[in-house]
Amino acid sequence: MIGIIRAAAVFLAAGSGLVNGASLQSVTGWGSNPSNIQMSIYVPDRVAAKPPVVVVLHGCGGNGQQMYSSSRFQTYADQYGFVLIYPSSNSNQGMACWDVHSAKSLTHNGGGDTQGIVQQVQYALNKYNGDAARVYVMGFSSGAMMTNVLAATYPDVFEAGAPFAGVPAACWAGAGGSNPANSNTTCANGQITKSAQDWGNYARNAYSGYNGRRTRMQVWHGAADTLVLPQNFQETLKQWSNVLGVSLTSTNSNNPESGYTQYLYGDGKQLVGYLQAGAGHGGVPYHESMVLSFFGVLTTPATSTTVSRTPTTTPGATTTPMTTPRTTPAMTTTTPGNPGGSQSKWGQCGGLGWTGFTACSPPAACSTLNPYYAQCL
Ligand SMILES: *[C@@H]1O[C@H](CO)[C@@H](O)[C@H](O)[C@H]1NC(C)=O
Repeated sequence: MIGIIRAAAVFLAAGSGLVNGASLQSVTGWGSNPSNIQMSIYVPDRVAAKPPVVVVLHGCGGNGQQMYSSSRFQTYADQYGFVLIYPSSNSNQGMACWDVHSAKSLTHNGGGDTQGIVQQVQYALNKYNGDAARVYVMGFSSGAMMTNVLAATYPDVFEAGAPFAGVPAACWAGAGGSNPANSNTTCANGQITKSAQDWGNYARNAYSGYNGRRTRMQVWHGAADTLVLPQNFQETLKQWSNVLGVSLTSTNSNNPESGYTQYLYGDGKQLVGYLQAGAGHGGVPYHESMVLSFFGVLTTPATSTTVSRTPTTTPGATTTPMTTPRTTPAMTTTTPGNPGGSQSKWGQCGGLGWTGFTACSPPAACSTLNPYYAQCL
């Protein structure tokens, strides 16, 4: 029976000219979308019976597709059958950052980016019969800041989170913007320091009256990050230690590998941090298997088979293949960019899959942070 379904699916894919197997799909009509963000989804060929949902968030200047092609979460989704969402933020003057400063986004059901991302989660849960108790979020840079904000505003939705190079939730509150190019950088510079209690209050105030489960956190940062300073790693740990009610039990060097220091809170199941010596912004690899293990989604291999990925049956919702097929990560960096313009300071200027400006507006210069991300600094 399964063989027949698979054969039919392959025939259908061949007949419609699609590449064989799962790919990133663009989705529309997923919700009221109060802040005009976008949604892409990766549904593996074999979906678990009640699949977990993992949200992966890009940094400033990136988008969902860039985040998809610069990480390897989908290879684990293929094996374990969970669903991946890659949102894209509303592009803000050519440089898309997540809104981590406005009251709308910093408040549960406040009508900002946070609410839009949660609507995408609800859509995926409904469409793929997902497990609402197993929803997770990770992100890089602006996406990491957003990961912390989502843990504060929607602890009822996200069971665990993993920010890479972020800042505590509400660190940007009152900054007037979330874009390092046109808003104040006090927070990114590590100059907003508070007590654990105060940070905890900020997180709790994002969803007042809520007394339920809190989001478990695995926090990553590079100790040589000069864009989002590593003090923010300490401030983030303070925040979640207070919210989760756990304290530092030990710091362990060369864990999980040489050059990293592990900050273990309690038994490490609620909160753990990893600081990588010498790593700049974008320098800490995503450690997909550690992130997904912490989330708890690498335990049950996918068993069921589905061919229901397309077409959609949700009224008003559509999924269409993204134009660019999955990219195999390689050690090549920039692709030829648009010769007619330049990127502003802090914007992306290169990296695997990048098709935007590769020149920077002087005096900024394009700096390659890793194979997937070059930035005007
Ligand atoms: C800069 O942003 C911080 C929050 O990150 C805020 O507390 C501070 O008031 C802002 N400064 C100005 C001058 O707007």
